Amino acid sequence: MSKNENIVWHQASLTKQDRQKLNNHQSFVLWFTGLSGSGKSTVANAVASKLYELSVRTYVLDGDNIRHGLNKDLGFNDNDRKENIRRIGEVSKLFVDSGQVVLTAFISPFQEDRAVVRELLDTGEFIEVFVKCPIEDCEKRDPKGLYVKARQGIIPEFTGISSPYEEPTEPELTIETNKYTVEECVDQVITYLKTKELI
Ligand code: ADX
Repeated sequence: MSKNENIVWHQASLTKQDRQKLNNHQSFVLWFTGLSGSGKSTVANAVASKLYELSVRTYVLDGDNIRHGLNKDLGFNDNDRKENIRRIGEVSKLFVDSGQVVLTAFISPFQEDRAVVRELLDTGEFIEVFVKCPIEDCEKRDPKGLYVKARQGIIPEFTGISSPYEEPTEPELTIETNKYTVEECVDQVITYLKTKELI
């Protein structure tokens, strides 16, 4: 017997559109993907602050933080990373349904897993932002000292060293954090959102 057999979807009295209307903006996901140390969390949080100034309701979901709670049972093998992204995709969908803008900062190294999240959402709601930075620069930054440990073999399956990172082939937006300041990267994201009339 399927686990879901006796579960019936309950229709909510308010729709996503009602909530978007109240908020005065669209709801969607800004999905930041990139190597550890590429600047995903920094840029995502800076974009959230800018959107706050513009009266846009946001919430940031960050890999390191979510792995302390909802996903603390998951590690870094391919299957756990897949499950990590699947859950974040589902949570993001709920936030979008609530009428908010979600900013996610997960390495999300696999093209297929990111495609699953894109499919989960309605057309135009998934905005893939490739946080592009050469691994040499990420390694030089090494804000958490993890690359050093990965090189020493202390951390196994480390993205870019001993576990793959599949670059997005058709991201909505690419920001190059080794070429632009955080402020410039934020401006690029905000300009994109305004051009697409999402905010
Ligand atoms: S993902 O691959 O499943 O998307 P996620 O973004 O949640 O990864 O978590 C990545 C963060 O976990 C990194 O920023 C880093 O701080 C930490 N981390 C610990 N071990 C690893 C590892 N083996 N590979 C990558 N990141 C790791």
